[in-house]
Amino acid sequence: MIFGRIKSLDAILATAEKKSLVRTLGPLQLTLLGVGAIIGTGIFVLTAAAAQKAGPGMMWSFIIAGAVCAFAALCYSEIASMVPVSGSAYTYTYAVVGELLAWMVGWALILEYAVAASAVSVGWSGYFMGLMKSLTGLELPQALSAGPAWTMNGFIPNADFSHGVINIPAIVVALAVTALLVIGTTESARVNAVLVAVKVAALTAFIALTLPALDTGNFSPFAPNGWFGPEGTSGMGIVGAAASIFFAYVGFDAVSTAAEETKDPQRNVPIGLIGSLALCTIFYLFVAAGAIGAIGAQPVVGLDGSVVAPGSKGFAEACATAAHAGDLVCSNEALAHVLRSINWTVVGNALGLAANLALPSVILMMMFGQTRIFFVMARDGLLPEKLASIHPRFKTPHIVTMVTGVFVAIAAALLPVGQLADISNSGTLFAFFMVSIAVLVLRVRDPNRARPFRTPAVWFVAPMAGIGCLFLFFNLPVDAQMVLPVWGGLGLLLYFLYGYRKSHVARGIVETHEQDVGIPPQPVPPMPGAHTPGGRDA
Ligand code: ALA
Repeated sequence: MIFGRIKSLDAILATAEKKSLVRTLGPLQLTLLGVGAIIGTGIFVLTAAAAQKAGPGMMWSFIIAGAVCAFAALCYSEIASMVPVSGSAYTYTYAVVGELLAWMVGWALILEYAVAASAVSVGWSGYFMGLMKSLTGLELPQALSAGPAWTMNGFIPNADFSHGVINIPAIVVALAVTALLVIGTTESARVNAVLVAVKVAALTAFIALTLPALDTGNFSPFAPNGWFGPEGTSGMGIVGAAASIFFAYVGFDAVSTAAEETKDPQRNVPIGLIGSLALCTIFYLFVAAGAIGAIGAQPVVGLDGSVVAPGSKGFAEACATAAHAGDLVCSNEALAHVLRSINWTVVGNALGLAANLALPSVILMMMFGQTRIFFVMARDGLLPEKLASIHPRFKTPHIVTMVTGVFVAIAAALLPVGQLADISNSGTLFAFFMVSIAVLVLRVRDPNRARPFRTPAVWFVAPMAGIGCLFLFFNLPVDAQMVLPVWGGLGLLLYFLYGYRKSHVARGIVETHEQDVGIPPQPVPPMPGAHTPGGRDA
């Protein structure tokens, strides 16, 4: 029966018509919104983890992950242009395959958004510590600037505190962003436009300075860990690195969540999605080539000669030795480190500063995305509506924001960036997989509905997206793969304890969503002077 709980597409679209959000975003603004959400810890930090997994072969990893995202983006585009409403994959799934799976997708999106915010907080911490050290010589003890290294013993996690206990800078940045979201960040339109420019300028400078220093000898051996990593390892090799570096592309779907605020969404959302993804892929390939070519990107091996995963105890031990102090793979601030290593210290510091300034906007996007998903789920009755109550003065959903912020800070305090990114990827891949199914189901079930954007060769592209997501998922480290079923089991339990009974669809409540008036304004519209939805101007 529960599979029959489908929210009618017409009802969702009628809801969108009634909503008061002002449509102000055009194609360029959407593309910038996407670039703002996409470029972050993935390229600035995880390049090192990708190199540890794949060596120079990570060039392929960027291409594979980018290709899977491109297929997924084409599916997102069709469905986002048909259903230009908030809630992203959650809403689409609700309309297509019903409430239970929609709940599971929404639940998985928590992994995508909240855990990604934690990962970016840890990435920021690495750049912050690096910049402090380079400028002032001051360092926090490692115990206070990194979380422990984790290993899984079956389902029991084991923490090793010898190379880190708690990541205090990551907690500080996560809570600071939470505070910004609680008080509302209406001034951020211009700030965000500047930050997108800062990120793009930093990456452009990196490419311009590293490519001339490129030594082709640094590209060999090209794939020291092969395509799938040596026997007995998980999540290693070029494909394992692709599954991790997928994180660098996450965020393009933020464009689809802005569909309700977009002028002519049927045309502009697909342009924004694909445009931002294409732009970032090109940047990433040049950055990866520059980093490898300038200082090399060979993995370190454990003290016993074994292949070690980034973030593991063996990896931390190897990186603590003098022999590897300057290695790309050991750096917490990969790109700044490369520039300093080729004697562009001042530019390296400037890039570090750029990352310090710009990464919090990615955290903000992710946490904002999270609150928006919670909102839609709460207004569908699947989560308590109290959770989404609005602060009387700040007019923001303070409770859900603070709950999210504390969760983000705790995860950031205790887990290394690579593991957080992998966990986030597991949720995101599930959501993207569901979108690739949804687009096909809709083609069959509702072939005559207007499709302002039709995915080209959909019977090839959508299966490729779905298979690509499965492929990357099953090449994540086993620990990260295990998080999804455990998290999903918890989600199912919650659904049957709460949402199953309270669901508005089940209770026949027809939504008109007037309560959306209280939805917070998009805090980071991309262009100066853009009108922020929800009635407040930047
Ligand atoms: N793609 C975003 C980043 O790399 C999440 O930080």
